[in-house]
Amino acid sequence: MNIKIGKIKLKNPVMVASGTFGYAQEFEKLVNLKDIGAIITKTITLNPKVGNPMPRICETSGGMLNAIGLQNEGIDNFIKEKMPYLSKIGTPIIVSISGNNIDEFFILARRLDKIKSISGLELNISCPNIRGEGWSVKGGGLVAQDSKATYEVVKAVRKITDKTIITKLSPNVTDIVEIAKASENAGSDAVSLVNTFLGMAIDINTRKPRLGNITGGLSGPCIKPIALRMVYEVSKNINIPVIGVGGIMNAYDAIEFMLAGAMAIQVGTANFIEPGVCGKIVKGIEDYLKKHKIEKIEDIVGNLDIKGKGAE
Ligand SMILES: Cc1cc2nc3c(=O)[nH]c(=O)nc-3n(C[C@H](O)[C@H](O)[C@H](O)COP(=O)(O)O)c2cc1C
Repeated sequence: MNIKIGKIKLKNPVMVASGTFGYAQEFEKLVNLKDIGAIITKTITLNPKVGNPMPRICETSGGMLNAIGLQNEGIDNFIKEKMPYLSKIGTPIIVSISGNNIDEFFILARRLDKIKSISGLELNISCPNIRGEGWSVKGGGLVAQDSKATYEVVKAVRKITDKTIITKLSPNVTDIVEIAKASENAGSDAVSLVNTFLGMAIDINTRKPRLGNITGGLSGPCIKPIALRMVYEVSKNINIPVIGVGGIMNAYDAIEFMLAGAMAIQVGTANFIEPGVCGKIVKGIEDYLKKHKIEKIEDIVGNLDIKGKGAE
């Protein structure tokens, strides 16, 4: 079940997605943290962020909307309060970071680069709930909606760290392949996709939006087919590993992503429903490999049979 993403050796390809697993300690009584391939922390920023007005989450058919707005206590507190615990787990730790500009990404990466127990950085350039803050991206959009801005952010972080860089892409674009290529060209070791889809829900009795931020990010099973299609398209067109995220609820979903071309996968919304789901997914993938007499997990990556096209 071993795989490699950049310099990180993972004992299995199942990671927890940023923002859905806190800083791991919250889950210690519910999950064997050693079962997980890698832990991706909640996104941290340079300065503390209070996040968006309540309510910040609501259920939708087949998924959920969130507009947390990257609430976090900032890098100083993260290093002081969260890192000592994370360092002891023994599972690779990937820290998700986001900045209001290139300098902030650079400063965050420079500080985290010095911490040995951090295996890699995931660049969150795709949170749909913080658009327009300080970026000179056209129309006040996300960094991940602009290939030039994506290139510049990744390049700046690449300059300051040799740690593995994963760039997290947004599905809210016309051509995700173009953004993935910009990340690769700037030196990213891998890309993860997708972050949430911009969405909305309304309470018809009060006629109010159900989120304080009006719009939010859609996640869960309802986004899986679109995320899967994007992973398929991106993995055909770049030479760095792709990490599939979006609506993965069980081992079958995870295997679909790997057949579409993902070297590893991340589990997000499913953690809220069943905190121990990652362990079950690992076991389910192992059973699949045994059943189909496949020796190495890597053998299923991108191993999609499209010769005769669709299934019978
Ligand atoms: C409540 C919530 C908070 C999230 N916070 C973050 C975050 O801080 N950083 C980030 O990169 N993605 C964040 N995400 C996005 C997830 O990491 C993931 O990309 C997305 O939910 C799709 O996967 P899923 O359908 O398995 O949940 C968040 C998602 C949810 C549901």
